[in-house]
Formats: sequence, C-alpha cells, structure tokens
Amino acid sequence: MEAVVDIKVIKTENSKLPGTSLENLPFGKVFTDHMLVSDYKDGQWQQPVIKPFQPISILPTNMTLHYGQSIFEGIKAYRTEDGGTYIFRPFDNYHRFNISAARMMMPEVPEELFIEGMRKLVEVDLDWIPNRPDHSLYIRPFMFATDEFIGVRPSSTYSFMILLSPTGPYYSKPCRIYVEEKYSRAAPGGIGFAKAAGNYASSLRAFAEAQEKGYDQVLWTDAVHHEYVQEMGTMNVFFIIGNTAITPNLEGSILEGVTRSTVITLLQEQGLTVEERPLHIDEIIAAYKTGNLKEAFGTGTAATITPIRELTYKGYEMKLTPDSWTISPEVKRRMDAIRSGSEADVHQWMFPV
Ligand code: COI
Repeated sequence: MEAVVDIKVIKTENSKLPGTSLENLPFGKVFTDHMLVSDYKDGQWQQPVIKPFQPISILPTNMTLHYGQSIFEGIKAYRTEDGGTYIFRPFDNYHRFNISAARMMMPEVPEELFIEGMRKLVEVDLDWIPNRPDHSLYIRPFMFATDEFIGVRPSSTYSFMILLSPTGPYYSKPCRIYVEEKYSRAAPGGIGFAKAAGNYASSLRAFAEAQEKGYDQVLWTDAVHHEYVQEMGTMNVFFIIGNTAITPNLEGSILEGVTRSTVITLLQEQGLTVEERPLHIDEIIAAYKTGNLKEAFGTGTAATITPIRELTYKGYEMKLTPDSWTISPEVKRRMDAIRSGSEADVHQWMFPV
C-alpha cells in the first residue's frame, strides 16, 4: 500500500520503556510511549498526529459519555524470528471497523489513515514489542463521538485514535463456562455484529453473575429461546463434534472475528470439515453424552484460542480435558508458527511494518 497520508510525528523526550518490564505482561495495562490521533470535523478527517501518550480533554457534555457512539478494534503485531515486524491481518480489522462505523452512524475511516497510521505508530514504538511466547503488541484503534450536545442524534465530530499495548495472554488457563439463559448479548436487528463499546458494557452483568457462581465466562445464547449458542465472553466459539468443527453462522448477532476466520482456514487445512451454522445446545449435550464432543474453545485477537474445560447448562456439567486435545492445540501451534515466521505465510496474513 502506498502511504498517501501525511502523518505528523512528535516524539517523546522521556520514554517509559527503560523503566518497563516486557515480561509477564498482564493484558491491557501497559501502554507504549506514543498514540495516534485524527479528528473528524466539517466532513473531513484532519491531519493525523503521532504524539506522546497523554490524557485527552473532553467536556461533560461529550456525546459518547451519554449515548455511547463508540467503536474499536483489536489487532496484534509480532516480531518474527528473523527480526522482522508484522501486523496480523490488519485489513480484515479495517473492513470490520467501517462495518461497525456504518451501523453506529459514524464516518468511514479511510484505509490510509487506519493502516498507514497503525503501521507508522508501530514503527515509532517498535522496541515495545515483547519477544516471548504468547506475547505481542496489542493494537487498539477506536473512534468516538466528540460533539458537545446531549440531544440524541449522530455526532458531527469524532476522534479516531490508536493505542499500543505490549501484552501477554488474556486468559492464562482453560475456562469454566456458564451457558447464559437470562441475559442476551445481541438480538436480531441489534448491534451484535459491530465492535461497539455498548456490546461490552451490556455483557458485564452476565459476566459478574457467572463469576459469582464460580465461572470464568458465559456462553451467550440466542435472545429469543436461549438455546442456540452465539459467542463465548468476548470471543467466537467452536465445538469439535466427531471430525467436524462447528461455529455459529454470522447471522447478524455475531462478530465476524478475524481469529475465527483464521481458525476456520487452519482447521480446513488440517482436514476437518468446518460448518458455520446454527448450533443448538441440545446438540452439544448429545455429543457430550456419546463421547463425540472432542474439543470446545473460544477464539479472539486478545485471547487467541481459549479452551473450555467445563460447560454448565441448567445445572448439567460437561467436563472436558483440554490436556488430551490435539486439534485446537495444532491450530494454535500453526498460528504461532506463522506469526513467528517459522511457518510460511501462504495466506499473506502478515503485513510488514
Ligand atoms: C479482542 O480480542 O481484541 C477483543 O475484542 C477482546 C477485548 C474486548 C479484550
């Protein structure tokens, strides 16, 4: 891609890097020295600026605070064994970002601003990429409304920003999952397919109640009957039944995960049939009872592949043994190998910085 966007770069004189350990990083707590900001006003994106990471100033009347017109993405950058730096599938996140923007009545972000802005920011903070297994540089592009107004309408001004966060694994171990029957993540015609901030806010109550019962996350089910599975926590979800991998189809309530798409491709290359279709909880229970439920896991940028070690539906506990699995560990091994450069990137998922 040719860089046509003129990005102003103001570098910090006080890097935090010498005082920061890049080992055993928790997810989402440490941020690099710089951030990218571009504002939208009068129907135009203004010159993007990479500047020292700093607070932003908003008035209490900022529309996002009241009505939640806010979307984001999650992407990761890796260092390969030969010393190269790559961002994993950023164009897929770019397309999804603008799908979210359209649903939320927000302006489209141009490709050069999103991709070149991210590439340049990663280049500026290159030394922050951790070089350890399961670690990476998490990239967080986001956009929010900036009109100062408390009437309900789309804002006419926005901020687009990108932050970088060196990070370790999101979940450190296989999860205990509660099949949710009371709350819904998304309903037909809603915003389930968009990476909108409100989807995450509305998930917190179910998450908290599942944690009170001793679970790590919930398995979301359809809003009408609470019988068809949708997503797991903030991830897409896969069930391996026999020699078939099944993941819910993208019918509008489900986020089109980039890791989901990567996992589908790798599973197919490993010889599995992958079905994207409605999946009823009774089918999962029946497979469990006959010993046909081989593996179950969530997929996401932050969480990569997270095994399910227990799934509870209406008090019925299904216990799985991730230590004995072979299929999803092989998918993870290949994803890691492509990202580290030890396996050829035949799908051209790695975008060079
Ligand atoms: C991601 O995988 O990037 C996510 O969206 C999860 C995030 C909310 C922590």
